[in-house]
Amino acid sequence: MAADFQGWLLGLQSRMETVLARILPAAEIMPQRLHAAMRYAALGGGKRVRPLLVFAAGEVAGAHAERLEIAAAAVELIHAYSLVHDDLPCMDDDVLRRGKPTVHVEFDEATALLAGDSLQSLAFQLLAHYPLAQDAHKQLEMVTLLAVAAGSRGMAGGQAIDLDSVGRALTLPELELMHIHKTGALIRAAVMLGALCGELPEPEMAKLDRFAKCVGLAFQVVDDVLDAEASTATLGKTAGKDAAQNKPTYVSVLGVTEAKALADSLRQDALDALAGFGQAAQRLRDLADFIVLRPF
Ligand code: IPE
Ligand code: IPE
Ligand code: MG
Ligand code: MG
Ligand code: MG
Repeated sequence: MAADFQGWLLGLQSRMETVLARILPAAEIMPQRLHAAMRYAALGGGKRVRPLLVFAAGEVAGAHAERLEIAAAAVELIHAYSLVHDDLPCMDDDVLRRGKPTVHVEFDEATALLAGDSLQSLAFQLLAHYPLAQDAHKQLEMVTLLAVAAGSRGMAGGQAIDLDSVGRALTLPELELMHIHKTGALIRAAVMLGALCGELPEPEMAKLDRFAKCVGLAFQVVDDVLDAEASTATLGKTAGKDAAQNKPTYVSVLGVTEAKALADSLRQDALDALAGFGQAAQRLRDLADFIVLRPF
């Protein structure tokens, strides 16, 4: 990883920690246990890939950092909520997340459910409350974009397909559909929201959209590979869960070697989509590399 990129990444990760810590209700405010659980879920861990994508896309569109912070926080709060619910006993039943006990283990199931709900509401509160665009119509477009990405036609829908697919042998197109929804949708929303915080002509938006779709799918392919190959200590979440729970993944359908080759070809497609953007898109290119080549 280039030193310049690493410095940018570490700087933004720490900035997001500060932003989220400020935005989340203090743990002393009633109901304390719920607020403590929300902070536990969202703070102190995670790669912050979606916020990084918001900022990198914002750079292409000349967006102001104050807007990008809010859009990045909104997407990360949706992501944090999705992880809390993904780990619940009724879903993947996981006990470890970001190197810590999962929220329902540290608190309890009802609190985890409500913390997820509240993180999601807070995300939309941010998008509605802070000025992110010149006109209200564009800002409403941004709210709609995140709502669609998080809902039954996006992440939550993908999670439904995931749960419905346990023990079944999915075809490659079925698997792709599941991954595009459960993970790709929110990654795409991160890129598009970052760009919408600034100004970009439609043909350029379409190129970013193509980039985001490739990177979003690649992200989950790599997640599947890491689940099979990396250790629990490296991942900060239980390794080998997909096979243990009989989940169809790119590893179960294609094997590790082909899954890795697919991730790399999606990375290439993502980079190709950015051809013509020049230096302004260098952070996005670096992030495509980071997402596919990451060790955790
Ligand atoms: C894990 O996401 C869940 C998936 C959508 C695959 P990340 O790998 O981005 O998790 P954190 O935020 O870094 O913990
Ligand atoms: C989860 O996918 C995607 C989400 C919407 C949270 P996984 O179930 O594979 O995520 P991990 O591996 O538990 O992080
Ligand atoms: Mg899952
Ligand atoms: Mg899971
Ligand atoms: Mg996984």
